[in-house]
This record gives sequence, structure tokens and C-alpha cells, in this order.
Amino acid sequence: MDSPDSRTARRSRRPRGKLRRRLRGGLTLGIGLLSAGVLYTMLVPQPQVVTAQDTLLAQGRQLYNNTCISCHGENLQGVHNRGPSLIGVGEAAVHFQVSTGRMPLARQEAQALRKPPLPEFDPDTARGRKNLRALSAYVHAHGGGPEMPPQSGTALIGEDTARGGLLFRLNCASCHNFTGRGGALTAGKYAPILNPATPDQLYAAMLTGPQAMPTFGDRQLTPEEKEDIIAYVLSVRDQKNTPGGYNLGEIGPAAEGAVAWLVGVVALVAIALWLGART
Ligand code: HEC
Ligand code: HEC
Repeated sequence: MDSPDSRTARRSRRPRGKLRRRLRGGLTLGIGLLSAGVLYTMLVPQPQVVTAQDTLLAQGRQLYNNTCISCHGENLQGVHNRGPSLIGVGEAAVHFQVSTGRMPLARQEAQALRKPPLPEFDPDTARGRKNLRALSAYVHAHGGGPEMPPQSGTALIGEDTARGGLLFRLNCASCHNFTGRGGALTAGKYAPILNPATPDQLYAAMLTGPQAMPTFGDRQLTPEEKEDIIAYVLSVRDQKNTPGGYNLGEIGPAAEGAVAWLVGVVALVAIALWLGART
């Protein structure tokens, strides 16, 4: 038989034991749920959020695979005897090469020629601009490189045309002639006439220096200086610099001298003949 003491002790212990067991159960459940939650977030992959950038890159990849992969390779690493690697050439190079129709290349020559761009890459159409953006973004995602400026079109035309002219004569005229008429270089290459180039293409050409042309990074020519050069090129090709009338093709003093000489000699001979006939 129990002593009254031990009986009261047991009675009072029992509810406390129940409470502790309940608490322990609750705690285990809590910990279990918590770790299940942690495990779940750790093991289940993040849901794929498709961003606008992903869509753009996917479009660019598609365009690349359709038109460029045969010469520049599956991973843009280049293909021997067909095309160079495009890793690190940057979006500006793609914009320049594709919007001027140089790429996709039709056949191997001393120099990739400007030709009408593929319709799907025509910068004059909304679709062409969108495709150019996608293709450029895809190539740019492989190693970065020179970037197009944030603004485009007329926003790239600077204000100081005179400074642009000075910078053009210093940096560009040796190859492209004083008014952007172009000229021959060595080994069958030539610096093309700049008339067809858009402000974006002028900017991209300076940034990327295609083929024999030097690269004019932002340390060689600041963005503002590039824009002034663009203003100058556009102003001379709009024939604003021909106060004397006919521009003789603007190919320089030799041509102008030859014309002056020929006209002068013909006039002198004519006068001499006329005088001779009178006497
Ligand atoms: C038939 C082959 C061929 C195809 C197709 C082609 N390319 Fe090229 N690409 C070349 C060759 C060859 C060069 C280098 C010679 C040159 O610059 O004239 C080149 C040069 C380039 C450059 C300049 C690289 C640099 O170092 O500055 C870019 C950018 C470029 N290609 C992009 C493209 C893109 C984008 C496409 C698809 C729209 C494309 N190419 C399609 C052959 C090709
Ligand atoms: C050393 C000679 C040289 C110098 C200096 C030079 N370029 Fe060029 N430029 C070239 C050559 C060569 C090409 C043709 C590249 C090609 O077809 O891939 C070219 C192409 C271009 C084009 C592309 C025209 C087209 O047909 O679409 C533009 C625009 C251009 N240059 C602007 C400039 C400007 C602006 C400067 C001065 C800041 C300059 N270049 C300085 C040699 C030169």
C-alpha cells in the first residue's frame, strides 16, 4: 500500500508529465514542419521566371542559328577558313556588320562589301530593328565587347559641326578623304564612301574599327566627339559645303586643278585661234 505522500506525488506528477509530452510532441512537429519547409525550398528548383531578356536572347539564338552558324560556329568560336570567332566582338560589331549588309557574307573577298541588308535585318523597318537587337544581344552575351550608345538615329548627331570637321580631318580623312568620299588602300582594300552610312552605323564603325579601319574607343574620341564627327559627315554629304556650285566629285585638289588647267588651256587655244583667224 502506498504512503499518502507518494500518492499525492504521483497524482501531481501525472498532469505535469502529460503536459511535457504534449509540449515535446508539438515541438517535434514544429521542427519537422520547419525542416520540411527548408528542405523543400532547398531541393525544389526556383520556378523559371521568363524575363524579357531571356526571350530576346532566345530570338537572337534562333536568328544566329539560321544565318550565321555555318561560318561562325555553334558556340561563336569561329569556323576554320569560313569565319572568325565572334566571342567578345560586342553588339556594336554585329549592328555594324549586319545592318550594312556586310554580314551574312556572300563570298570571300579582300573586304566584306556593303550591300542591302537582309530584309529581316533592315534597320529601316521595325522588324529589322527588333531582330538586330536580338541578334546583337545574343552575340554580346558571349564575351561582351563594344556596346551601342543608349540613344540612336538623329539623337546621335552632335551640335558642333565645325569641331566634327576638325576631328574628321585629323582622324578619318587620311583614308576616307576630306569629305568622306572614300579612297583606295593597299591589297585591294579601300575605305568606302560614307554617304550611305546612318548615324548608328557611323558610331558603330568608329567603336569597332572594321577590318583595316582603326578602332576609336571612348578614350580616343569621346561620345560627344563621335557625335560631332557624325554631324560633320552628314553635313558634307548633304552638299552644304559647295559654295562654288558643282563639286567635281569632291575628290580633291588634283581633280580641281586638272579641270582648271583644261578649261584654261582650251580657252587660251580658242583665243589664239580666233586672233590668228582675224589677222
Ligand atoms: C559565308 C560566311 C559568313 C556568314 C554566313 C556570316 N559571316 Fe560574319 N564574317 C565572315 C568572315 C569571313 C568575316 C571576317 C572577314 C571580314 O570582316 O570581312 C566575318 C566577320 C564578322 C564580324 C566582324 C568580326 C570582328 O572581329 O569584328 C561580325 C560581327 C560578323 N561577321 C557577324 C556575323 C553575323 C551576325 C552573321 C549572321 C547574320 C554572319 N556574320 C554571317 C563570314 C561569314
Ligand atoms: C586607316 C584607314 C581608316 C581610317 C583612319 C578610318 N577608316 Fe573608316 N573605314 C576604313 C575601311 C578600310 C573601312 C571598310 C571596312 C569594311 O568594309 O569592313 C571603313 C569603313 C567605315 C565606315 C562604314 C561605311 C559603310 O560602307 O557602311 C564608316 C561609317 C567609317 N569607316 C567611318 C570612319 C570615321 C568616322 C573615321 C574617323 C573617326 C574613320 N572611318 C577612320 C578605313 C579607315
